[in-house]
Amino acid sequence: MKKKTGKQCDLVILNTSELLTLAGASHGPRTGREMRELGLIRDGGLAIEGCEFVAVGPSREIESKYAGKAKRVIDASGKVVMPGFIDPHTHAVFAGWRDKEWVMRLEGKEYLDILKSGGGILETVRATRAASQEELVTITKKHLDTMLLHGTTTAEVKSGYGLDFENEIKILKVIEALGEGHPIRLIPTFLGAHAVPAGYKDDPEGYVEAVMGWLPEVKPLARFCDVFLEEGAFNLAQAERILARARGLGLALKLHAGEFKDLGGVRLALRLGATSVDHLDYVSEGDMVEMARGGKKVQGFNPPKAEKVQSASGGKGSKVQGVTVAVLLPGVPFFLGRQRYASARVMIDLGVPVAIGTDFNPGTCPTPNMQLIMTLACLELGMTPEEAISAATINAAHALGYAHRVGSLEAGKRADVLILDVPTYTRLTYQFGVNHVETVIKTGKVMVEGKRQMSYLAKI
Ligand code: NIG
Ligand code: FE
Repeated sequence: MKKKTGKQCDLVILNTSELLTLAGASHGPRTGREMRELGLIRDGGLAIEGCEFVAVGPSREIESKYAGKAKRVIDASGKVVMPGFIDPHTHAVFAGWRDKEWVMRLEGKEYLDILKSGGGILETVRATRAASQEELVTITKKHLDTMLLHGTTTAEVKSGYGLDFENEIKILKVIEALGEGHPIRLIPTFLGAHAVPAGYKDDPEGYVEAVMGWLPEVKPLARFCDVFLEEGAFNLAQAERILARARGLGLALKLHAGEFKDLGGVRLALRLGATSVDHLDYVSEGDMVEMARGGKKVQGFNPPKAEKVQSASGGKGSKVQGVTVAVLLPGVPFFLGRQRYASARVMIDLGVPVAIGTDFNPGTCPTPNMQLIMTLACLELGMTPEEAISAATINAAHALGYAHRVGSLEAGKRADVLILDVPTYTRLTYQFGVNHVETVIKTGKVMVEGKRQMSYLAKI
């Protein structure tokens, strides 16, 4: 509440029913009981100058200091105001949907069997290769618009539907173009090791070598490198080779682990200092304990001394010394019709830092709506509404090594804010299937108002 008080400010929000600041966890993710702390201020307010918050606090204080010199004042009476959602795991760049596969699965075919017979991811690869960079920008922009309307202001986006040098670079350039032209802040991840392409069917090792060879040229276009560790995709040794090489080049790391089988990905991710390890529907309790040890100590849980887990979290510019965050994606088992979900309750109680994301992709989670994912987190992962909100904001920021900039409403951070058309935050996860996001402010600019997207200057 102190910075730049003499200057005019751009935007003030007053009189919130509930202001969820999520403040105080920019240094490390919330764990254990802390995940229930929302930094809630009733009748709160905030002031924005340029691209960042200058003050967050009780409404009357903000009003007396800032309202008189603000260019615009928004009255948020009866509404919840909170940080923009952060989706830490998407495969948003793809061409073509897979309606036939959806019907096949409803008739009892298994997802991994469809992949083995050349469908699934490989079908999307064929369609994505056939699309030009411009076409992919147009298709993806539509998805990003949907995400923005539903409150996502930062999203990680993976490549992985190219599976050859030219097409993987094409996808990363699509992400780069949209990162410059679209309001959503995009964090690019290289996932060349998403599946073994048809041309390398009998030589997976040759494909691993090829992927490693692309890394120096991928590096300027990606912040993270990821691998799909799974039967029918890549094994532990292959994942380790690719990720170790990527880390050597300065990329931060992510890993798809335990989506269908536990192949030991958690320990690999911890050993390599990955910023996150994602999915984790199948993971042993021993590995959850290891993840908690990699996290910070929490009340009531004091794990034995751990080997120090260093994280490559954040890449360039990050001031945050990260730990490995568990990114849970409940939309996947939901859409695959499975009973088994990640053991989020055990993880949180052990002290594992937990975030949630969509995994938005045409095969295992066709929704990019974080609100729906938060409801699934409550119903299927056993999380409380408060935990789901922490997991979709500040902890998701940590899963991207970006918590020094986003994930909470605090002076000095980027002004990414949602105004929700609900009087209390529990309504957000309770009344599911409805878009509660009325206003989206991204980096200080109003991008959605009255549930409608404002036009933005697209350089795309
Ligand atoms: O995260 N796990 C691998 N990739 C995606 C699915 C991609 C697809 O089916 O197209 C996932 O589930
Ligand atoms: Fe994924």
